[in-house]
Amino acid sequence: PAFTDDIEAILALKCERKAVILAHNYQTPEIFHCVADIVGDSLALARKAMAIDADVIVLAGVHFMAETAKLLNPDKTVLISDLSAGCSLADSITAADVRLMRQRYPGVPVVTYVNTSAAVKAESDICCTSSNALAVVESLDVPRVIMLPDEYLAKNVAAKTDVEIIAWKGHCEVHERFNAEDIRELRETHPGVVVLAHPECPPEVVAEADFSGSTSAMSDYVGREKPKRVVLMTECSMSDNVAVAHPDVEFVRPCNLCPHMKRITLANIRAALEENRHVVTIDPRVATHARRAVERMLSI
Ligand code: 13P
Ligand code: SF4
Repeated sequence: PAFTDDIEAILALKCERKAVILAHNYQTPEIFHCVADIVGDSLALARKAMAIDADVIVLAGVHFMAETAKLLNPDKTVLISDLSAGCSLADSITAADVRLMRQRYPGVPVVTYVNTSAAVKAESDICCTSSNALAVVESLDVPRVIMLPDEYLAKNVAAKTDVEIIAWKGHCEVHERFNAEDIRELRETHPGVVVLAHPECPPEVVAEADFSGSTSAMSDYVGREKPKRVVLMTECSMSDNVAVAHPDVEFVRPCNLCPHMKRITLANIRAALEENRHVVTIDPRVATHARRAVERMLSI
């Protein structure tokens, strides 16, 4: 009953405030399936944020995603319902670190994962997400790039290209916990299981997996290939959300929870719409440069 109350209130508030809710694939099923207007991976959320007809955008995801939505919608109110929904990757690097990397490697372009603050994006040449990282790196047509801040994403891209990649030491606290031994054990205990891994996983995990791709690419894989048994080496809500559409597929665990994504709840989304909080703001000088890096990515 508590869920039903919040869902009904949120649906009414969306009409009242001309608001849309963008939800990442890691949001819990009651958010993902019952109140979200647009769902997807980081790239889809950014792309779809560009064409929104609304006064208010509520980003059900983590802070860097809300900042990206604000960069692309400077005149709209963008809300995030818990300001402490952060990301270990975004926390692993500052704008000053990027400037130091540029000094150390003069003339080498900086490709920055969207899982970063607007201030870090503002110091970058171009952004990327897990679904377009290889295409972004190769689009630059240079022999060497700096790729920040996810060491594992950088190494997973490096395995697929001749471009030399200079990495940083940031990690996703959710994906770094998977290892290749987990996969070998799963294959023994669950014969025939198809293993999908997010590219934020360590390279040894990606090498042992049957497929690696962004959150939406994993979801599309299940829809297209319809495996009998599958394990998603990623955040737990992914399997919950994808399973709804595929009752015949067995979703094997383990998975890991992202504590930041889980800070977003129906109750605080409702409060965000009722009380207009927390409004996402970005320093205009930072925003101009950060927007350029995001738009350059979206033009690819
Ligand atoms: P995707 O872009 O694949 O949705 O990944 C975002 C993320 O935070 C994964 O941990
Ligand atoms: Fe950041 Fe990892 Fe959580 Fe994604 S899953 S938001 S990369 S901490």
